[in-house]
Amino acid sequence: MCQKCDREKFYITTPIYYPSAKLHIGHTYCTVATDAMARYKRLRGCDVMFLTGTDEHGMKIEEKAREAGITPQQFVDNIVLGEGGVKDLWKLMNISYDRFIRTTDDYHVEAIQKIFRKMYDNGDIYKGAYKGMYCTPCESFWTESQLVDGKCPDCGREVHEAEEEAYFFRLSRYADRVQDLLENTDFLQPRSRVNEMVNNFIKPGLEDLCVSRTSFTWGIPVDFDPGHVVYVWVDALSNYITALGFCNDRYHDYEHYWPADYHFVGKEIVRFHTIIWPAMLMSMGEPLPKHVFGHGWLLLDGGKMSKSKGNVVDPYLLAQRYGVDALRFFLLRSFPFGSDGNFSNELLINTINTDLANDLGNLVSRTCAMIAKFFGGKLPAEQAADPEKDDELIAMAGSLHERYEAQMEQLSFQNALAEVFKVISRANKYIDENEPWKLAKDPDQAPRLARVMYNLLETVRICAGLLVPFMPDSVAEIGRRIGAERMDWDSLCVYGLLPADAAVTGGDPLFPRIDLAKELDELEAIHQAQLRAALPEKEFEPIAGDIPFDVFCQSDLRAVKVLTCERVKKSDKLLKFTLDDGTGEERQILSGIAKYYDPEDLVGKTLLAIVNLPPRKMMGRESNGMLISSVHKEKGEEVINLIILDDKIPAGAKMC
Ligand code: MSP
Repeated sequence: MCQKCDREKFYITTPIYYPSAKLHIGHTYCTVATDAMARYKRLRGCDVMFLTGTDEHGMKIEEKAREAGITPQQFVDNIVLGEGGVKDLWKLMNISYDRFIRTTDDYHVEAIQKIFRKMYDNGDIYKGAYKGMYCTPCESFWTESQLVDGKCPDCGREVHEAEEEAYFFRLSRYADRVQDLLENTDFLQPRSRVNEMVNNFIKPGLEDLCVSRTSFTWGIPVDFDPGHVVYVWVDALSNYITALGFCNDRYHDYEHYWPADYHFVGKEIVRFHTIIWPAMLMSMGEPLPKHVFGHGWLLLDGGKMSKSKGNVVDPYLLAQRYGVDALRFFLLRSFPFGSDGNFSNELLINTINTDLANDLGNLVSRTCAMIAKFFGGKLPAEQAADPEKDDELIAMAGSLHERYEAQMEQLSFQNALAEVFKVISRANKYIDENEPWKLAKDPDQAPRLARVMYNLLETVRICAGLLVPFMPDSVAEIGRRIGAERMDWDSLCVYGLLPADAAVTGGDPLFPRIDLAKELDELEAIHQAQLRAALPEKEFEPIAGDIPFDVFCQSDLRAVKVLTCERVKKSDKLLKFTLDDGTGEERQILSGIAKYYDPEDLVGKTLLAIVNLPPRKMMGRESNGMLISSVHKEKGEEVINLIILDDKIPAGAKMC
């Protein structure tokens, strides 16, 4: 609780992202979840600090910059600040972060040097030599026992033996305290992740952690030992406190917000957040974060999305086609936050159609349209309740905030949304039960009709208000259409706050229905085009191994002139040529190049053919030889060009 403003404080963070490549929908998942939680807490009146940022140091970035021929700083600037970069993506996704940290920010660099020295001065950092199995992409050393099938347990890639002079952090010293923290508190959530940490990492013996590198330079230098840069995880994890002003003067709210209420992190980095991070804080004598939540992955075809596997899904594309709110909603509605979830376009479109177009969108548009039609857009104040028909809906809508709150406080976004959609479905059913179109035919029923409409509007107000953490823009639009002046938390806990004579305005469908089959085809076509675009411009077959010269000489290559050329019936591929080969007899050759040439364009041309191949039947016709063409690939498509010779070469001339 803040002493000054009497508001509960809430500090929440996302992992800071590696700007090594464009972010995909999997990265978006955690940030959208964090944003939903931050917005929920703001709705509850909390004093929220929502931190995100980018983790910009390390060997991987250094290498990528080298490949791109630019400095590492230019490289990260492009991906963080450039068009379509990290900041752009968060703007698009309507991420309401309060602070954005870059680990290349001066104040962070200065703070990391102080943090390193603090742990050194406390006797927790010492110099040694590190020898181990190193995974370059993950920038992690592993012990033999941690490897899975000899490969990196995180990413499954090759590791290699490496040794370097390095500083070490006495992680082993904190093993018992960390184990106690994991086993006996609710620090790590969901609880199911505790065993993995304790059994796989702590029980086998927690080894001291290598916390500096000399093999690359793109990092924060250890100020008292130049040549060493601080290991990326020490640099990265500390962002959660340097961004508040710990060990620097850029910000001054460490005392105010720390410890964090939640670090949201993907499951593969739970280890760093629940073992290394608390140990570092223990070493510095600082308070520990209250909770780390390890969420699941969004999977594609059962595997993790990754640029290297080429199976990433582009959030820009999806947001542009379906709207940012629909995408945000889908991510949190479709998968339980703690578990992995299988992403598919079909699931995305079905979720939008079912929940947003059919249920929510329809409820809002039907209600507004009926009020416009029956009452010119404004409800009369004279209304007649019918408790038997109204009470169930009113009770459900009036108590929704309790069920919703219970789920949100447990980070069960999916269940919180399910509660809201139960009420939305109930409201749609209420329309069918009350048959407003029949009431409208009897002028004596106008007060009853008005009450039915009011109940619908009020239910929409409450449901939409609770959706604000998930779909902020759509909710603002719904609020505008139903004339809701209040959608703050207190107002959502009370049924009946909308004035009786509420006025509505119409508008386009909030969530247009998507034609599933057509859309899937279009997405597939876009996907294929993207795959093609990623292919090299031109590809050529590798040069084959040597053959004896006399084998080559056995091929009889002749200039031939095209006398006639036509398509072979029932074949998309074949052209039939009659050729003058200089012998005085016509030669027939079939060639599979119909896709590339119009037959009439070839008549009269001088081509190159092998004429001493045995005759071959193709589509019932005989081919006596083979026309020579070149073959290569353009953007993955095979391209064939006939070898067309100079016309001055006579038919029958032998190539040598
Ligand atoms: N830089 C580190 C985090 C340092 S935090 C002190 C990092 N960065 S990352 O860019 O590789 O990943 C950021 C987050 O995105 C991680 O929490 C990771 O789990 C998450 N995701 C990346 N792909 C994902 C999915 N396919 N699904 C869900 N989340 C995934 O790790």
